[in-house]
Amino acid sequence: MLSYEEAQQHLEAVGQAHVLQFWSELSDEERQSFLQELSQLDLKGLKNHCEGAQRAAECPPESLDQHIEPVPPGSIGSVRKSDGKSLEEWENEGLLQISKSRVGVLLLAGGQGTRLGVQYPKGMYDVGLPSRKTLYQIQAERIQRVQQLAERRHGPECSIPWYIMTSEFTLAPTEKFFKENNYFGLKPSDVLMFEQRMIPAVSFDGKVILQGKGKIAMAPDGNGGLYQALVDNAVLEDMKKRGLEYLHVYCVDNILVKMADPVFIGFCVSRGADCGAKVVEKASPVEPVGVVCRVQGVTQVVEYSEIQPETAQLRGPGGELVFSAGNICNHFFTRAFLQDVAEKFKDQLKQHVALKKVPFVDSCGNQVKPTKPNGIKMEKFVFDVFPFSRNFVAFEVVREDEFSPLKNADGAPTDSPTTARNSLLNQHCRWAVAAGATLLDEHGKAVPPSSSVSVGDAPPAQCEISPLVSYFGEGLDQLLKERTLKTPFILDEKRASELQAQ
Ligand code: UTP
Repeated sequence: MLSYEEAQQHLEAVGQAHVLQFWSELSDEERQSFLQELSQLDLKGLKNHCEGAQRAAECPPESLDQHIEPVPPGSIGSVRKSDGKSLEEWENEGLLQISKSRVGVLLLAGGQGTRLGVQYPKGMYDVGLPSRKTLYQIQAERIQRVQQLAERRHGPECSIPWYIMTSEFTLAPTEKFFKENNYFGLKPSDVLMFEQRMIPAVSFDGKVILQGKGKIAMAPDGNGGLYQALVDNAVLEDMKKRGLEYLHVYCVDNILVKMADPVFIGFCVSRGADCGAKVVEKASPVEPVGVVCRVQGVTQVVEYSEIQPETAQLRGPGGELVFSAGNICNHFFTRAFLQDVAEKFKDQLKQHVALKKVPFVDSCGNQVKPTKPNGIKMEKFVFDVFPFSRNFVAFEVVREDEFSPLKNADGAPTDSPTTARNSLLNQHCRWAVAAGATLLDEHGKAVPPSSSVSVGDAPPAQCEISPLVSYFGEGLDQLLKERTLKTPFILDEKRASELQAQ
């Protein structure tokens, strides 16, 4: 551990002497823990980090309009545009790979969830479903179910290891939550949590921000911190030891995420892809999502802020948006590709600037909660490895079926607990009706089969189907066909066996 004098020397050398300005006011204990924190920092790299952050925040993003083109049709598959036979073949291939225990899933759960505004990890959030399940529980159950589907289709017992990337903020509560809930029925040895790195937040004048008198404001290094974290925590070695070849990487907040989706896995594997991304058609030209496209021939995600509105609005001959492949943070990687990234490319990843409100102590020692952004957080993004792929594919999926993220607190018009809950319940109503059930709404009126509504709108009835019963609508006809069901209706395993016995 550094001594006070060493820390002071290093900090002075990189123009950050203010970090120790409250040293005389700290207790012995606070001094010890501050020195410990400083010892873990890359003090040599701090100068570059601070200057880089300041410069990056001052420069507007480079406009890419002149250089972009859509992903070529040959590199993009689509659920809507494919025939049933292809979809079945991909699903079968995906289930086969899962049954051979070659597929793992990796959850990005290191974010601070500032927009949602809760003090615990987002995965522990309960969006108010009739079952009161949290996002973590829904995901754990989907893993179990798809594992079971693979075993039924292709034989021997298999497992889908679940890697969970956390950060200093989310690791301890996530671990505790999983333990308290018995890993939601998964084998604890198949749930592997690891931590990503943290980096200092920087003020607009290039100074490290002090969160307390003896504490630097640190933030996780973005979900692209994954690649460094894979190395730090020997995750690729673990994958190799388990015989995993493919990884499905996804964000914690999409309530509709299809974990280890066999169709997506099967599509990517049969195309020989090393890297793949699920996309949804952009809802409108102004929807603020990144678009998967090519820039000077290289695949990447272009942020909404990097192109002009005229480019975002370009339409093709059929009226469709030219740049419509909305990125939904749902990726396929081969282990070999990740190994390559870890060995050769991870230090070349772009840094993105996020301007955030970072609580700090001012020079008089007062604690301040800023009302407008005062700090720069530099983040890496998980998709920034696309340019290193040798065979990239995109796969367009149906938004209502696969994408409804939880980003904001209730009250926001989009991506809130209410819209996430509604999206899931709408989907389950569609599944039940498609399986031949008649759902009675709260007034006892039959829900018409065509009452499916768009993502986030209130569902016609409260019908929730446990992922342990159905992963994506499969197997419901034998349980629900020709039944009239009062809602709220929860189809869990117990109810399913009762229905089967009737
Ligand atoms: P977001 O960019 O939506 O960030 O993360 P967030 O932290 O969840 O929410 P805000 O912006 O503070 O409101 C997208 C995904 O990337 C993960 C998040 O946990 C989420 O699954 N993430 C984000 C990380 O794993 N690490 C990070 O450093 C940042």
